[in-house]
Amino acid sequence: MMMREQAEALDRADPLAAFRQEFSLPDGVIYLNGNSLGPLPARAAARVAEAVAREWGEGLIRSWNSAGWYMAPRRLGDNLAGLLGAEPGEMLVTDATGLNLFKAVAAALDLRPDRKVIVMEGSNFPTNNYIVQGLVRFLDRGHEIRFVEKAGILDAIGPDVAVVALTHAHYKTAHLLDMKGITAAAHAAGALTVWDLCHSAGAVPVDLNKAGADFAIGCTYKYLNGGPGSPAFIFAARRHHAAMRQPLSGWWSHTAPFAFDRDFQPADGIARMLTGTQPILSLAGAEAGIDLACRADAAQTRTKSSALGDLFIQLLESRVTGHGFKLESPRLAVERGGHVALTHPKGYPIMKALIEAGVIGDFRAPDTLRFGFSPLYLRYTDVWDAVTLLAEIMETGRWQDARFQQVEAVT
Ligand SMILES: Cc1ncc(COP(=O)(O)O)c(C=O)c1O
Repeated sequence: MMMREQAEALDRADPLAAFRQEFSLPDGVIYLNGNSLGPLPARAAARVAEAVAREWGEGLIRSWNSAGWYMAPRRLGDNLAGLLGAEPGEMLVTDATGLNLFKAVAAALDLRPDRKVIVMEGSNFPTNNYIVQGLVRFLDRGHEIRFVEKAGILDAIGPDVAVVALTHAHYKTAHLLDMKGITAAAHAAGALTVWDLCHSAGAVPVDLNKAGADFAIGCTYKYLNGGPGSPAFIFAARRHHAAMRQPLSGWWSHTAPFAFDRDFQPADGIARMLTGTQPILSLAGAEAGIDLACRADAAQTRTKSSALGDLFIQLLESRVTGHGFKLESPRLAVERGGHVALTHPKGYPIMKALIEAGVIGDFRAPDTLRFGFSPLYLRYTDVWDAVTLLAEIMETGRWQDARFQQVEAVT
């Protein structure tokens, strides 16, 4: 079994260690929930303050031009593109994840008008199902969602399939799907792909163009540390730009927004995926986190995130035995995204007790505890200390206190 001194040695040798000082982390907290909401990058606070005081306060409406507000979705999209294997001009940072999924799936269906089936993983984060169910109902053209699980995906892709809309790293188990292989199978069947990268961007290397992906979406508030509710991203491969159409065609996706024409004419390129006026302060807040993720070496990021997850599993299995935890994530790091999921029938009060002790993870019904291993600010010693506290909570039975049993609105 590893000793704490060995974790300390790993921290000293960590090539990403310097990134930790870029974050504003509260004292006394081990933050293992960057897979849900990343912490505050120090420069984000300064950037938002500048956007409020100087750009809004002094620049007023002139800032749409002078502070680059109008181009912000494209500028941030271009910044992020390299991290995800896209080219400049293929990505935007705009709108919410769900809205981007709506636009991307609608655009993909529109490119395959004679096919009616959308393949999705039923256990995916529910909003994806709800958004596509809403789209299907709204279109009312006889589309059908074929829900499958990981093992059945390839068999579900046949000549009737229009779109395969999947999440690369599963929100609960963290299992990874083979983006390249599934995309190739979809293309061989004549279908298009829409990849959700919410749990991949900033945690797992992604190469959209190498994988041949058609569309992709994802949030910036998890491993990209963009802030609560920060705008999401959307990718469309350049080969689709000329033909793609999306139904939320607002003035920002018009070819000449300031001509104020009566009728819609789509913009060229990725701007076609925009809709309307953007949340500029939230975009300003997201810049610093995206920049940090792009600055970090993607291979080092993945290596460290995997090592932190492996260490957590190894310490859990050697130091928290006999308390009923089961590993829900793949044991092999290559098959896993950035977090590790455990199940326990009393997962909710255990997680609450852990949070009170200063280790923040989260709980997903009915019995999953999630621990995120974001490599830019976590240390190996954080993993060691988190497992020590978990062991203590289980051995003392502190999680059974009445105050941990009350279920709150947000778990
Ligand atoms: C896979 C996945 N898709 C989408 C979302 C959320 O979408 P939105 O940002 O629109 O709420 C999440 C949130 O955790 C998610 O895990």
